[in-house]
Amino acid sequence: MSDKLDGLWAAAKAELDVATTKDAVEAVRVKYTGKKGALSAILGGMGKLAPEERKALGEQANKVKAQLEAALEQAAVRLEEAALEAELAGAKLDVTLPGRHVRLGRRHPVSQTLDDIVATFARLGFDVAQGPEIELDWFNFEALNVPADHPARDMQDTFYVDAQWLAKGVGPTVLRTHTSPVQIRTMLAQKPPVRAVMPGRVYRKDSDQTHTPMFHQVEGLYVDRHVTFAELKGTLDAFAKAFFGAKAKTRFRPSFFPFTEPSAEVDVSCVFCGGKGCRVCKQSGWIEVLGSGLVHPNVLKHASYDPAEVTGFAFGMGIERLTMLRYGIDDLRTMFENDARFLAQF
Ligand code: PHE
Repeated sequence: MSDKLDGLWAAAKAELDVATTKDAVEAVRVKYTGKKGALSAILGGMGKLAPEERKALGEQANKVKAQLEAALEQAAVRLEEAALEAELAGAKLDVTLPGRHVRLGRRHPVSQTLDDIVATFARLGFDVAQGPEIELDWFNFEALNVPADHPARDMQDTFYVDAQWLAKGVGPTVLRTHTSPVQIRTMLAQKPPVRAVMPGRVYRKDSDQTHTPMFHQVEGLYVDRHVTFAELKGTLDAFAKAFFGAKAKTRFRPSFFPFTEPSAEVDVSCVFCGGKGCRVCKQSGWIEVLGSGLVHPNVLKHASYDPAEVTGFAFGMGIERLTMLRYGIDDLRTMFENDARFLAQF
């Protein structure tokens, strides 16, 4: 029987050495080590042996079994390696081909401008505040000194939100037409002094070459004892120089907003011609960039501030417009089309 075991090992080994497929190796495994295999057959006959012989033969059988298993494993590994070699030899890999270009995303130019503006005012000591885009009529108009029948409501064509808000008893609700309601929310939330900029989206029923129903504004508010118009001028002039470059000049033109008194529109010297006069500034040398003024006493009262104690200034600017001026973009629609080829330039 011992000879039989040696013979079994030699035969199995010889078959494995010439096996060239997984199936062939598997066949060897079944034939020699399977339940009905050659090894089982030999071990099955061991019952008839004397105990001494049985022990010796058992040891030999275990050894052969271990050898066989190791050889099967080796054959499997050898076949896998050969398969990989064959695959690599067959594949045509041109390592000199250029790699595939991965396109990186970028911040939208409007977001970049917004961040820059906020950062510039942060250096001037302004915090950042935010408010909701769906706003109570009271914050958007009433508290800003624009009562229901006030003609100034026509200045900004308003999106009214469904009348269900009325039923809930919270009053009429609008998509905010400007960031100015955040002035009121910020003042109601803290005692003076307040010095903050308030960036965000605003909505108006307007859509043509130079207007989109949604755009971005940054509001500014500074309220404290003895805040003057001179400080407003100084602050906005510093901003214009930081944003457009040290050569930029500012000019304040009398204007009207219900929530500021006095009010001024602010022009910056034309960024395209330096003030000489060109097509963009319509030969005037100036470009309008924002609205501003001293906070109206009624507005301070609505925010529970005492106009006898504190004064303040406020301003608001359109971000798309500033972005276009800064990069010399002449079509507002490019700001919203999200053409990756266009956006990749900034
Ligand atoms: N809210 C005004 C607008 O949208 C801008 C503004 C803000 C004017 C603050 C004065 C003070 O046109």
